[in-house]
Amino acid sequence: MSIGSRVISLGHYQPEKILTNDDLAKMVDTSDEWIVSRVGIKERRIAAEDEKVADLAVRAARQALENSGHGPGDIDMVVVATVSAKDVCPNTACRVADELGIATPAAIDVNTACSGFEYALAQADMAIRIGSAERALVIGAEKLTAVTDWDDRSSCVLFGDGAGAVVVEGTDDPELAISPVVWGSEPSMSDVIRIEEDVPYIKQAGQTVFRWATTQLAPLIEQVADRAGVKINELAAFVPHQANLRIIQGIAKRLDFSEDCVVAEDIVYSGNTSAASVPLALSKLVQDGNIASGAPILLFGFGGGLTYAGQVIRCP
Ligand code: ACO
Repeated sequence: MSIGSRVISLGHYQPEKILTNDDLAKMVDTSDEWIVSRVGIKERRIAAEDEKVADLAVRAARQALENSGHGPGDIDMVVVATVSAKDVCPNTACRVADELGIATPAAIDVNTACSGFEYALAQADMAIRIGSAERALVIGAEKLTAVTDWDDRSSCVLFGDGAGAVVVEGTDDPELAISPVVWGSEPSMSDVIRIEEDVPYIKQAGQTVFRWATTQLAPLIEQVADRAGVKINELAAFVPHQANLRIIQGIAKRLDFSEDCVVAEDIVYSGNTSAASVPLALSKLVQDGNIASGAPILLFGFGGGLTYAGQVIRCP
């Protein structure tokens, strides 16, 4: 049993096909200018017809596992956050484990929409803390384009496909441990973002989500830092859910980040990939080498439910 867990490696995967704003302007009545000015997205990736959520998850997870220096036999827990997997049983975690040759892991799917990765990371962290797991793969993977209404210009410009993954293992160093999660939801606002049986596409009250995100979340993010014992101005990076560049910048403006703090803006090239957006953006940031090993990074997811969750990790 360990006093906590830490992220030791990362990986990500994005499909090859790029859909630009100009491409979208040929499909619905929109323009590059509208999308860039309202949402900040320039392009997004689109999975192939036969590419499933599990396939995206496997590719990100394989990279994270390779980067960890461990093999499939060293993993005893797989947690996948997704809101777009069409296959209900077996769950995506079992599919991923099977593909990677992980023999007998605890295998869980988590659905809290865009905050899914942070909830999933908390599950793995808690399992390691109580001694029910030693080393976990935690993945966020989405094929949102399979649940996108391509006739609805107010939503189809937002979404993309991708996956990000981390390997987490026990640590007895409190300086490196993932901080206790701050999580919650606003169930009375459940209808604001929906993918339901009768309308299996993402439907959202965009302005309500925008208002909630830009007015309610900054104090919750401060709580995440508080629980971690880290000051906001000590953070090396802030990786929020990539919903809209104006939301990210609006939240950032309310927080006392230092000038050196890197605020992830991967949405520009990836769109909103729901549960995949934080691990995808995080993996790219770390890969770019701009964050020092051991530096504190605050992760914060928010979205459908409405749900939210966040924690501080240390850069591997
Ligand atoms: N191109 C051109 N015009 C558009 C487009 C488009 N793609 N979409 C909407 N418009 C028009 C509308 O028809 C409307 O026109 P009107 O005034 O003539 O009626 C005008 O633009 C304004 O529309 P709004 O819906 O008010 O646009 P808004 O500025 O609120 O932007 C957006 C919409 C981008 C969706 C914004 O509200 C937003 O980002 N909200 C947050 C969304 C979010 O984060 N959701 C969570 C993700 S859900 C998930 O991940 C599963």
